[in-house]
Amino acid sequence: MLPLQADIHSHLLPGLDDGVQSVEESVQLLRGFSELGYKHLVITPHILSDFYPNTPNGIKKQLNAIQEAAEKEGLALKLEAAAEYYLDEVFFKSLLADEDLLTFGDNYILFETGFVNQPAILFDAIFRMKARGFKPILAHPERYEYMYHNYELAQELVDRGALLQLNLNSISGYYSAPARKVSEWLIDKKMIHFAGTDCHNQKHYNLLKETIKLPYFDKLLKLDLLNNTLLEA
Ligand SMILES: [Fe+2]
Repeated sequence: MLPLQADIHSHLLPGLDDGVQSVEESVQLLRGFSELGYKHLVITPHILSDFYPNTPNGIKKQLNAIQEAAEKEGLALKLEAAAEYYLDEVFFKSLLADEDLLTFGDNYILFETGFVNQPAILFDAIFRMKARGFKPILAHPERYEYMYHNYELAQELVDRGALLQLNLNSISGYYSAPARKVSEWLIDKKMIHFAGTDCHNQKHYNLLKETIKLPYFDKLLKLDLLNNTLLEA
């Protein structure tokens, strides 16, 4: 059983993004999460204007569908939905326009950026999120190419009030060798606030079961991760 009992990043709502595509597939993975010891999952479909124009209503509908299915299966999991916001001009405008955004726990908001270049609006967006009372969490910092050669940036993001969420499978080198290197550096520097599975499918889940046997996973668990604080809410 994992001591990590809450996950804050996955794509287990069917048909909304590049994650799970059916209720059956979702339930199978939920059962797997439950077997690993998870009690609470915050499921975070991509919101990306052109590719995944998900809305709070559409997300809620799919959440209800899998909650019902999980209940029928007798799974003791608390399921919640938020989003993984892609940082672009559309998201930035919705921040400025005071639009309702999907949050979880202590007003946390999960966001990602493009993988190659550091967005020009990165710091400004963090400032705006904080100004609106959100606690911004940057998804998988270790996966961005602009982070591979600029570890100081991670410190600057934290100094500016961003929380960092590591993808567990980064520890195994699944995404890339540099992403693994950055993840080890972030763990060594104790700069991870949340661990996330970013689980999209069975393949990610199977790998997760291997990742949790690795020494850096044990090292990660020794940090003051905020995951389990969600269980108290
Ligand atoms: Fe994701």
